Amino acid sequence: MPSPLPLIDSFNRVHDNLRISVTDRCNIRCFYCMPDEPIQFTEREEILTFEEIEHFVRVAASLGVNKLRITGGEPLVRRDLPELIEKLVSIPGIKDVALTTNAVLLKQHAQALYDAGLRRLNIHLDTLDRERFKQITRRDELPRVLAGIDEAVRVGFEKIKLNVVAVKNLIEPDIVPMAVYCRERGFEPRFIEFMPLDSQSLWDRRKVLLADEIREMLTSAIGPMVAVPDSDPRAPATDFAYSDGGGRVGFIASVSKPFCLNCNRIRLTSDGKLRYCLFAIEETDVKGLLRSGAPDSEIADTLRRNIAGKWIGHEINSSKFIPPPRPMYAIGG
Ligand code: 5AD
Ligand code: SF4
Repeated sequence: MPSPLPLIDSFNRVHDNLRISVTDRCNIRCFYCMPDEPIQFTEREEILTFEEIEHFVRVAASLGVNKLRITGGEPLVRRDLPELIEKLVSIPGIKDVALTTNAVLLKQHAQALYDAGLRRLNIHLDTLDRERFKQITRRDELPRVLAGIDEAVRVGFEKIKLNVVAVKNLIEPDIVPMAVYCRERGFEPRFIEFMPLDSQSLWDRRKVLLADEIREMLTSAIGPMVAVPDSDPRAPATDFAYSDGGGRVGFIASVSKPFCLNCNRIRLTSDGKLRYCLFAIEETDVKGLLRSGAPDSEIADTLRRNIAGKWIGHEINSSKFIPPPRPMYAIGG
């Protein structure tokens, strides 16, 4: 589809990457994302249907969006997710569809996801130790996660990435075992600096295990690493490769080295709001447009206006920082 004008903001950033949250529900409770107490999730009728998501993506694709990531909450708790994947991969202009999952339900769904055309998987896993997994996620689901990962490999997923949230004074014992597990299986671990997106305001700068500290730990335990030139300079991870050829490691230094100036991402929440940043305070409703039968041109204009008003970047490192009104599970990472 010809794109008349790309989605460009006032800092000349072109937006071609859309992250779609399909639910705010989750089957585990990672403390840096969800609270421990009962959560008031969005009512089902407020959640966009697959048809509404597909409609929005068609409009976004006509404006140059070509990369999608499905997130949550936990996307696999949404029934029939492979049907959505199948719809999205066939939209003209969409070149790449990825999924971020905690893998608890992956064993049941890996084959259907692959058959639907999904090829890229990011799996959220911080530890290989069952007790520590329970401590972090408040659920005893590590065996199902590991079985889900094995099944994903069996059905043919390649280049699987594992997301590890880097929380200081907590995750240090898991860094090297996670890296070794990934090295042995050809996965890429990605260490993500803990961000202030938790629902209990636990975040504090001193609780962030910095990307450079993790790299030092890996270098001394496993071996030297060299920076890999960016294949996509707008991707948030900085990649390093082990000098012995034993694979790669990604670092997402969102706190110590913010990458907002390269941002190409837009977010659609499960209840149909557009967010130009993880940390955005304001959001734009598109569900109302989709449900009232507004013409595509109006949906396109709304998307353009949201991007046009995008700020330069988050201010995690400043005293002016205001945490977003929604926690991570209600935004989609
Ligand atoms: N800080 C950094 N990363 C987080 N994630 C969830 N909460 C946080 C947080 N507070 C990550 C998880 C998930 C991805 C979508 O976001 O690793 O895989
Ligand atoms: Fe669920 Fe992901 Fe939040 Fe963990 S980080 S509670 S897996 S949505």
